[in-house]
Amino acid sequence: EEVNLHECLELITRLARHAGKIIKSRINKKKTIEIKANNSIDFVTETDQEVEKLLIGGIKQKYPHHKFIGEESFAAGIKEELTCAPTWVIDPVDGTTNFVHSYPNVCISIGLVVGCDVKLGVIFNPILDMFFRAIKGEGAFLNDEPIKVSGVKQLTDALVAIEFGSVRTQEFRSIVNHNINYLVTNAHGVRSAGSAAWNLAQVARGAIDLYVEMGLHAWDMAAGDIIVREAGGIVIDPAGGDFKLMNRRILAASSSEIADEVYSKFQQYYPEHD
Ligand code: IPD
Repeated sequence: EEVNLHECLELITRLARHAGKIIKSRINKKKTIEIKANNSIDFVTETDQEVEKLLIGGIKQKYPHHKFIGEESFAAGIKEELTCAPTWVIDPVDGTTNFVHSYPNVCISIGLVVGCDVKLGVIFNPILDMFFRAIKGEGAFLNDEPIKVSGVKQLTDALVAIEFGSVRTQEFRSIVNHNINYLVTNAHGVRSAGSAAWNLAQVARGAIDLYVEMGLHAWDMAAGDIIVREAGGIVIDPAGGDFKLMNRRILAASSSEIADEVYSKFQQYYPEHD
């Protein structure tokens, strides 16, 4: 199926800006939270659900045949397979825990997969008014200015991002602790922003040189994958292989040199696929 990516970008920019107003108007208010699973800190608020409905509804109106993989519909038990049909991969509020605590790293993350590849991505932080976007082959932009990765080639020169994620099992905590310990021993600094999409956007604009996480989901990564690549960065599996959107694992970096230096030092965690 032919997809006009520029038309898609126009639509999703309008919808994301609308949704952003809702998120911004509520960030400092009290939220009601639900916890999604045992042994995890995985929250959902009514704003997540409302924003996902707004985005999916708006896309469906224009593209009734497109498919969706969305965080909140997944939580409601709708598990979609990724096919080669045009599929929107959506996180209405990436950084829900931040949102709940009024911490401003909150992003809307929207990727469009066509032919099994992310072709379009938008990450919008409505609190800080930072709008990142990329279309395959056309570069990456922040608020209409082109962006590039830093190009940093070694860990001793790097500012690194890693997340504790939402899993709270003993095994998982021990793996993350090991990896943080390795990074903090060698890098300039280690950051944990609480939003995967935000971390990926920071790699794309050269503020973070390496980001690794295992246990996150396709909707946290889809938009960031294409934005990092279009900014000249690399995106791989944290054990060194090819990145796979549904595998719940990502390593994004400013250069292949730094990625090659670090990946074999990580303890690995392989969650069940999306
Ligand atoms: C979470 C954030 C967080 C990451 C978790 C994700 P959500 O997404 O991206 O940084 O560590 O793995 O689940 O639940 O806030 O959309």
